[in-house]
Amino acid sequence: MLDWQNGQPFSSRFGDVYFSRDSGMAEKRHVFLEGSRLAERLASLPSGDGFAVGETGFGTGLSFLCTWQLFDEVIPFSSRCSLDFFSVEKYPLTERELSDALAQWPALQGYANELIKRWRRRVPGWNRWSFGEGRVRLTLVVDDVAKALPEICVGIDAWFLDGFSPACNPEMWTQQVFESIVQASRPGATFATYTCAGHVRRGLEQAGFQVSKSPGFGLKREMLQGRLPGSPPARSIPATAIVIGGGVAGCAAASALAMRGVSVKLIDRSPALAAGASGNPSGILHTRLAAGMNSLQRFVLASYGHALALLDEKLPIDGIVRAECGELQLAFSAEEAKRIDKLAALDWPPHVLQHVDAAEASLLAGIELAHGGLWFPAGGWVVPPRMCAALASNPAIAHFTSHRVESLTAVDAGWRVEGKNQHEQTWCHEAQLAVVCTGYEVKSFAPLASLPLTPVRGQITVLPTTSHSRNLRTIVCTSGYLLPSIAGVHMMGATHSFNDEAVNLRIADHAKNLSRLTEISAVLARSMNTDSLDIRQLDGRASVRASLPGAMPLVGKLLPGLYTSLGHGTRGLISAGLSGELIASAACEQLLPLPLAVVNALAPVAKRVRETSSHMVSPAIGIRSPGI
Ligand SMILES: Cc1cc2nc3c(=O)[nH]c(=O)nc-3n(C[C@H](O)[C@H](O)[C@H](O)COP(=O)(O)OP(=O)(O)OC[C@H]3O[C@@H](n4cnc5c(N)ncnc54)[C@H](O)[C@@H]3O)c2cc1C
Ligand SMILES: C[S@@+](CC[C@H](N)C(=O)[O-])C[C@H]1O[C@@H](n2cnc3c(N)ncnc32)[C@H](O)[C@@H]1O
Repeated sequence: MLDWQNGQPFSSRFGDVYFSRDSGMAEKRHVFLEGSRLAERLASLPSGDGFAVGETGFGTGLSFLCTWQLFDEVIPFSSRCSLDFFSVEKYPLTERELSDALAQWPALQGYANELIKRWRRRVPGWNRWSFGEGRVRLTLVVDDVAKALPEICVGIDAWFLDGFSPACNPEMWTQQVFESIVQASRPGATFATYTCAGHVRRGLEQAGFQVSKSPGFGLKREMLQGRLPGSPPARSIPATAIVIGGGVAGCAAASALAMRGVSVKLIDRSPALAAGASGNPSGILHTRLAAGMNSLQRFVLASYGHALALLDEKLPIDGIVRAECGELQLAFSAEEAKRIDKLAALDWPPHVLQHVDAAEASLLAGIELAHGGLWFPAGGWVVPPRMCAALASNPAIAHFTSHRVESLTAVDAGWRVEGKNQHEQTWCHEAQLAVVCTGYEVKSFAPLASLPLTPVRGQITVLPTTSHSRNLRTIVCTSGYLLPSIAGVHMMGATHSFNDEAVNLRIADHAKNLSRLTEISAVLARSMNTDSLDIRQLDGRASVRASLPGAMPLVGKLLPGLYTSLGHGTRGLISAGLSGELIASAACEQLLPLPLAVVNALAPVAKRVRETSSHMVSPAIGIRSPGI
């Protein structure tokens, strides 16, 4: 919680100020920017290279904004250089507190507004947001420093140690934290901090830094700086990539690569993008969580926050292609009630989820509901083909539709992709990088044939709105989901038929979807006249998901230069974006947007190893070489 003392933000929990009372901005610049020789180091980056700053204690985000502003001053827009800023914060400010604290700095207001816009999308755990057309990426971990630092993948170049004074907050200055900082650093990494405490100096020296003192800011006589031995190797960013598959996974991977200046060929066999599972008229942006925070839950939660922030940029809410109507997950069965109770017992920020009873749920929904459950205020729906189009709209992405890929071969310069067009003429493209995003269809690509993907057919049903159902304001989920009326119809989803690749509409599947209406509300079911509807006349759409045992998709590097974003199952609309970001970050040797355990759990090489254990090399597990 933020308090104010003499017009300055102050933490009563720690009994310390967020920055110097003299001038916070001047202090951050002196201690961290100048203390790390940041302007000089950024200016000497070769074109296309990147730089990563790590911070302990995000607080008001002032150091991040000062760093971003400096990056803009030093690095011209024409350069392909980018900045990663990693920070950790155990007690994030509310949106109101953040905007009040940053209102003090008119010179940073443009930058601050961008941060405040993303702030409402923050989730517990890992958050990844892009700024300035992708030139700057913020990875903010909402967690304890001791837990977050050992999970960083691909290292940091300059550390800002800013965790309140060691006397007020000893947890931020432990030997374990210092060791983790060194583990997560690139050769030649530096640190800077305002404190001169002896145990901090000795601890950082013991961890491996060469430490020196320099003049402090304002009344502080001295501060500490340090450097690790060595010099960082240049990052190599691929110039070209081929992305196979124009669903959300392919469009998101293409978008993330193009944002980094990679020239992308996006190839799909259909005449238009979003012809497969990503072609439904609408889909929900939602997160279904379990109480235990395993790798899948951490991935899903991070994906949810990321997808909402990404779409705010690429496909803003307008009520036509995207809406934020909120989502209710009802405790309609004993099993769901148990899951919901366990989740509700955890400490969630109210902007992420709230526990509501049946009366509150009914008020939110605008219709009477028999059950309470979980309320996700930021849940909403999107038109997936419009999402694909928005992601794939970038001058660096060339579209090749009606191009069926038939083979994928490793060549000296990367990967060769060959196939036929709609006239059965053969074509061939080569690129340094290939990303396979073909949903369940990988069997024909030799390097991917052993991946354990299962086709799961699904059908949605479109129902006419009635005078009662028109009152529904939110998405309601039980064993399926019902959307509020969009252009005079409701959409209900979805069925699951394993190992079924047929995409014809089935009456039995419509019936299955309709049967779920009573789980939501008996009154609603009656009002929608489902008994008298001619089910054969109902509209809908069937397509095929790609599913994996355990539901964790296959995202990352399979072979040198070959990546996959596959197996998004029932949640591709939220998981595709962060998966694309992970692939692009890994391919460009940049800070990864997810913790090591999650990166390794997503890694396709690990899955392939498990399936075909005899002839693949085990993935290297470790900070500098995660299994991606
Ligand atoms: C009925 C139903 C309802 C759903 N509802 C939701 C929802 O509400 N929210 C949600 O988050 N998720 C939902 N999903 C899941 C979501 O739609 C998927 O997870 C997501 O669309 C997967 O995207 P993708 O890009 O991996 O696959 P796809 O969208 O299937 O894209 C694969 C692409 O690869 C192309 N391709 C395949 N083989 C080749 C080849 N050889 N050469 C060239 N191109 C090729 C295909 O043409 C296709 O365009 C639903 C799925 C279904 C089936
Ligand atoms: C001095 S403030 C950081 C100021 C910030 N860099 C800025 O620019 O505003 C220190 C921050 O560290 C956070 N913090 C304290 N203990 C922490 C811990 N154990 N793990 C993560 N964050 C912690 C505090 O909540 C506080 O926001």
